[in-house]
Amino acid sequence: METVKIIETIAGVKEIIKRLKKNGSTIGFVPTMGYFHEGHLELMKRSIKECDETFVSIFVNPMQFGPREDLAAYPRDLRRDVELACGAGVKYIFHPGVKEMYPDGFQTVVKAGPLAYGFCGASRPGHFDGVCTVVAKLFNIITPDFAYFGMKDYQQLVIIEKMASDLNMGVNIVKCPTVREKDGLAMSSRNLYLSPAGRAAATALARGIQKAADRLIEFIYDTRNARGDIISGIIAEYKDDIIKSGFDSLDYFKIADAETLVEFSGPDSLRRADRIFIAAAAFIGKTRLIDNIIVKNPLLN
Ligand code: PAJ
Repeated sequence: METVKIIETIAGVKEIIKRLKKNGSTIGFVPTMGYFHEGHLELMKRSIKECDETFVSIFVNPMQFGPREDLAAYPRDLRRDVELACGAGVKYIFHPGVKEMYPDGFQTVVKAGPLAYGFCGASRPGHFDGVCTVVAKLFNIITPDFAYFGMKDYQQLVIIEKMASDLNMGVNIVKCPTVREKDGLAMSSRNLYLSPAGRAAATALARGIQKAADRLIEFIYDTRNARGDIISGIIAEYKDDIIKSGFDSLDYFKIADAETLVEFSGPDSLRRADRIFIAAAAFIGKTRLIDNIIVKNPLLN
């Protein structure tokens, strides 16, 4: 435990970074909202492997939660997080308070562009502006060479990648694969909210996405299907499957170009896409779970 330094002030963390950079160290950064699971720990381990020094931030960012979302209930356990991060080999944790990040009078926002309009952005207005603003602040504070993000939140990842490039932040964004439970459920701090029955039902989210991916690949290969409206068929079937499996409602299930996040208008645009993004969000009670998969177009890869 004594090897982990927990830093609560911006000035404090900047001081350490300045010293480390003077020695020529490369800085890796893993931004999180805490309550670690294996998905978070994989990002940390990768950063430790690839960078001289790794900083992890733990900050439950109020700005990215809507008024009816789970900000107050979001799980927090600093002691547990510190132990887990320490076990993964982390030496520096930045853990600022809300007033440190958003002092009175704070008013500037980084506004995400069209990549944020669909998918989770459509159901969570303002969410990605909150994410961009806090991540921009964290990048300015930590000034990392590399920042590690999970594919689990793929839309977030591409939005941040775009922000870093559009605003010349000089940070390399590293994409890390989704870590899953043995039964395929994507790891998430929100899985904790599920009852045993909900937890059992939750596997349908990932299973359905994989099934949709298999069907899309078959379709892409079979040119006789040139006119079929495969996508709306797959979407209808997916919705049916997850509701039957115990989900209460589907927020979205969409198939889009993995680079632009633009949904396909028909089989031709699907066949032309290099990579296909299949994503879903669905509710079990009040718990909203998301998952996705990226499929390489077998005709082009
Ligand atoms: P949080 O949900 O804590 O996630 C922190 C990082 O862990 C994100 O990059 C997320 O994609 C990654 N992650 C979560 N579950 C994962 C899994 N099963 N496999 C792989 N990676 C996973 O995402 C946020 O926090 C916030 O929006 C943040 C970027 C910190 C800004 O507040």
